[in-house]
Amino acid sequence: MSKNRIFSGVQPTGNLHLGNYLGAIRNWVRLQADFECIYCVVDLHAITMQQDPEDLRRSTREVAACLLAAGIDAKDSILFNQSQVHYHAELAWIFNCIARIGWLNRMTQFKEKAGKNRENATVGLYVYPNLMAADILAYKATHVPVGDDQKQHLELTRDIAQSFNSAYGVDFFPLTEPLILGAATRVMSLRDGSKKMSKSDPSDYSRINLTDPADEIAKKIRKARTDPEPLPDSVDGLKDRPEAENLMGIFAALADIDVDDVVNRFAGAPFSKFKEDLSALSIDVLSPITAEMRRLMDDPGYVDGVLREGAEKASEIAEPIVKEAQDLIGFLRP
Ligand code: TYM
Repeated sequence: MSKNRIFSGVQPTGNLHLGNYLGAIRNWVRLQADFECIYCVVDLHAITMQQDPEDLRRSTREVAACLLAAGIDAKDSILFNQSQVHYHAELAWIFNCIARIGWLNRMTQFKEKAGKNRENATVGLYVYPNLMAADILAYKATHVPVGDDQKQHLELTRDIAQSFNSAYGVDFFPLTEPLILGAATRVMSLRDGSKKMSKSDPSDYSRINLTDPADEIAKKIRKARTDPEPLPDSVDGLKDRPEAENLMGIFAALADIDVDDVVNRFAGAPFSKFKEDLSALSIDVLSPITAEMRRLMDDPGYVDGVLREGAEKASEIAEPIVKEAQDLIGFLRP
């Protein structure tokens, strides 16, 4: 069994935001030093909600460009879009026949995304976590770096692996470990500290997009919701102050320091001072990524080439694994 292989994915549905960056992408970049890494733009997952074809194509390139701009090294790591490697969909079907309806009924993300009109949600949205398990297990990935919101899906991936192994009396799929790292594993909306920062929030002021120019970042941070109290002098003082806690967590993650240190630095300060510093720091960290991403978007041929080569390398790894799974099941392959 392969040792220490990373897999993770991101949906090409609109702009990437600070939550994606701090919760996932920045960790993906760092993990490249110690792991074999496979990163995927999950366009099959994207179509669980209807997408405009042109938007999907543009967004797939844009997300890939953003990953490269953030520091994914296409020579060392594998970067591709999911639909180019047919093994994901093939293994997902097998997992549709392993996972139980009861397991999927417990998925909170399905409930959130389907909303009140559950009967009208696509079947794809319902079995979304099975495809995610297939993404990971087609490569026998051992570790999956994600934000906190993906934890439940990764538990399901372990249940699927275990259930497959026991159904066929084998020790074939690994029990994958989530890697939920850093000071900002769940970045919240800038407009409401009780809601996750998300691509689908109708208010653009709720998030910092990785494509936002510096003046837009500054404006969004200036307008971010706060409470009237000055900043606390201990981490305990952040309790019941979700907006302060979120902004200080973002600061800690961007500066690569502990929240304790941020609290000490701004103890008793008004939000206005803190926001000024947070704004400067955010622009410092994000501007080079945005600039490089724009440069790459002017060269779509290069980005497409990276994805094509990545897909070839990914297929080489997935092919023997998925074929062996098919043999274990008893599919005839003369
Ligand atoms: P997606 O596209 O919603 O998000 C990509 C990554 O960003 C993280 N993230 C956040 N982290 C912190 N705070 C936030 N507000 C925030 N919002 C998003 C997510 O946790 C994720 O790590 N189902 C996945 C994509 C996927 C996948 C996979 C991930 C498909 N197959 C296999 C891992 C392994 C998703 O929709 O991520």
